[in-house]
Amino acid sequence: MSSKRFSIFTYGCQMNRYDTETITGHLEQEGYERSEDFERSDLILLNTCSIRDKAEQKVFSQLGRLSRLKKVNPALKIAVCGCFATREGEGIAKRQPAVDLIFGTQNISELPRLLGRMAKGRVVDVAPVEPDFTEVAPIQREGALSAWVSIARGCDNFCTFCVVPYTRGPEWSKPSALIVAEVEKAVAEGFKEVTLLGQNVNSYGRKTPGELSFGGLLRRLDRLEGLRRVRFMTSHPKDCDEDMVGAMSGGSKVCEHLHLPFQSGSDEVLRRMDRGYTAEEYLSKVGLFRQRVPGGVLTSDVIVGFPGETDRDFEETLGVLHQARFDSIFMFKYSPRPGTPAFSMKDQVPEEAQAERFEKALRLQRQVTEELHLALVGQVLEVMVEKPMEGAPAPACLGCPAASERRPAAPVGFTGRTRGNHRVQFLASGPAPRPGDLVDVRILRGGLHALGGVWPPDSAAMEESAP
Ligand code: 5AD
Ligand code: SF4
Repeated sequence: MSSKRFSIFTYGCQMNRYDTETITGHLEQEGYERSEDFERSDLILLNTCSIRDKAEQKVFSQLGRLSRLKKVNPALKIAVCGCFATREGEGIAKRQPAVDLIFGTQNISELPRLLGRMAKGRVVDVAPVEPDFTEVAPIQREGALSAWVSIARGCDNFCTFCVVPYTRGPEWSKPSALIVAEVEKAVAEGFKEVTLLGQNVNSYGRKTPGELSFGGLLRRLDRLEGLRRVRFMTSHPKDCDEDMVGAMSGGSKVCEHLHLPFQSGSDEVLRRMDRGYTAEEYLSKVGLFRQRVPGGVLTSDVIVGFPGETDRDFEETLGVLHQARFDSIFMFKYSPRPGTPAFSMKDQVPEEAQAERFEKALRLQRQVTEELHLALVGQVLEVMVEKPMEGAPAPACLGCPAASERRPAAPVGFTGRTRGNHRVQFLASGPAPRPGDLVDVRILRGGLHALGGVWPPDSAAMEESAP
């Protein structure tokens, strides 16, 4: 009997992409096979996001296109899940009759039962169920080197601009024993790196008596045999403390990269965002990180044009960019989210002012990024090899056990990441490195989006042709 096929479209953040892996795991257990050919699928899912952009328009225009497929294949089922589905449940069902199943971010584990109910008619069920922390949930991971492992669900912070606490519910920490089991399983499957995911990873365990702290969890994972690197995101400045920064400085596997969103440099804006810190307090966390993790890489998120943000507030944001010297940032124009406190705040900043501030902050950040990347030239950095560079000739048997004995005639290009999460393109001479290998690369170029270098680090002959 041939299995049923499903396709899934994923919008938004890493957490959504992780949810897609979990949904895929459940569907495969139910006998479905994933397909990229959505026009021939029996089930099409849209895993939606509503954190910033115009989710509503995107989802409804995609649903319009998909509903036409039903005319050709009346047996096709269409499902909508994710953040937007959690918020708009019945609203989506009313507007789009072609949708057969709507489920939320907090009842993915119910999917097998929901599929059974869908066979009898349309199902809209976004009611949260408590996470089942008794066993490792099924998951079908994408990629082969780096695995995402969620360590917590939800968020208790209620920053006034953000929908996440409404769409993903309260914070639940997954028991550390289960996290360790999940990471061990990923390592046994061949993964070399894990990225711990949560909306606020560094408040991990605080609500659970007897549970490890986030620093404790990092130290526990640092001891795991076979695992090469541990990353995590996202951290909240108010929960960034000596314990976690100490675990970053003391570990051999915990990578020296901290993503610490600051959102604004103005105390008044931070207060109205309800972020729980001042600019000075934020910068003191940066100081702690710089002192305890020398050479560590710091990245951040910033929002421009929050309601009531004045030119002076914005100048203070630029001030933090100057002082913190982030390696890179994700910058967003404030996007009003219905139902959040900021939505109804007065003095919404007009689009032109937002755009102007965005450009100004971007110019400054580009300059800082370029300076920091240029300063890496000459250094030797540990790179985890990902794959041959696109367009570069791949050694014939890359990945086979004999690969290390082969010496390719000409240098070949590879991509990989440093411990600080810099993307690196490098030329390799001698035995070809394999995906997952850790190699020492000498940095010769410091571009905005990727560094360029050579391996082995003393292969000076190739310097002129380094990417
Ligand atoms: N408008 C703009 N940016 C937002 N973010 C979250 N909500 C909003 C919003 N309403 C940004 C924050 C957060 C990142 C994940 O998305 O910077 O850190
Ligand atoms: Fe949203 Fe704030 Fe929670 Fe981050 S910490 S998910 S910005 S509410």
